[in-house]
Amino acid sequence: MEINDAIDMPRLQWYPGHMRKAERLVKENLKLVDMVVELLDARIPMSSANPVLREIVAGRPRLVVLNKSDLAEPTATRAWVQYFASQDIVAVPVDAVKGRGIKELVQEIQRLAVPRTEKLAKHGAKPRAARCMILGIPNVGKSSLINRLSGGARTKVENRPGVTRAKQWIRIGAQLELLDMPGILWPKFEDAQAALRLAFTGAISDTVYDVGGVVLQLLRALRTDYPAALCQRYELSDAIPDGIELLEEIGRRRGCLVRGGRIDYEKAEQMILTDFRSGRLGRVTLDPLPEADTDDTNVGMR
Ligand code: G4P
Repeated sequence: MEINDAIDMPRLQWYPGHMRKAERLVKENLKLVDMVVELLDARIPMSSANPVLREIVAGRPRLVVLNKSDLAEPTATRAWVQYFASQDIVAVPVDAVKGRGIKELVQEIQRLAVPRTEKLAKHGAKPRAARCMILGIPNVGKSSLINRLSGGARTKVENRPGVTRAKQWIRIGAQLELLDMPGILWPKFEDAQAALRLAFTGAISDTVYDVGGVVLQLLRALRTDYPAALCQRYELSDAIPDGIELLEEIGRRRGCLVRGGRIDYEKAEQMILTDFRSGRLGRVTLDPLPEADTDDTNVGMR
């Protein structure tokens, strides 16, 4: 799906000052951990990545969580896991709300942290649990994951030198400690396609963009890649109309009407967004895998 019509693109609320502050905070906390967990949205693993994460984490081992995998297409998620594996990155599909994939995630975090904790031990440090922090753009599910990992009852570990009172550790089993503070990063706001997909998924507040234009783009994407889901949800015939006509048809079928039988566009738009974001339109993955020959590094981290 390409953006063809001129629409008011989402304007993301990140400015150079915000970005520098976010980067500084992550870098400060990076010193405290053995590895980082990068949270991506399984529906948009590329669009939900931070553009400079690789520079920020500066060589720390990292693991990708494909969160909200309950909303993504399972075959696409498997393909993304393989893609990351081809880039030497472990990716674990997770549903942070229901807790699916959490066990595998904890095992992988522990495994990835071992080289560093062993190295520290060799240099005379006391053996200790692996420590990690969770990074990701707003709304990707960082708090949900931290809550899920902590099992709701966070076991606070003692304050450590250099760790302000606000920064606490959560102990997960005997072998893992999690920094109880998500590293919030900014999304790829300069990439119009990514911004649009972030708007579809609700990662960007609906108040900052033209919802009507975004919904038309979402319908276009679904019509192209998931026509059966559209037909099923809205009882459309196989000849799915395009553009505004599709919106109107859905509005009619769902009774989004104002007096006189005219379409209530706003109501129809909100309904479509809610249906999509809640998974009622089925499990959808919007980011295609990167083309093999155009990708020389790991795209999730760009
Ligand atoms: P953040 O800290 O990264 O900003 O994200 P947060 O955990 O607050 O999650 C943002 C929204 O995404 C929340 O929904 C949360 O429930 C939902 N979410 C997080 N992980 C998953 C997941 O794996 N699957 C699904 N389906 N949803 C997930 P919300 O509507 O903003 O809040 P709420 O109604 O759940 O309270």
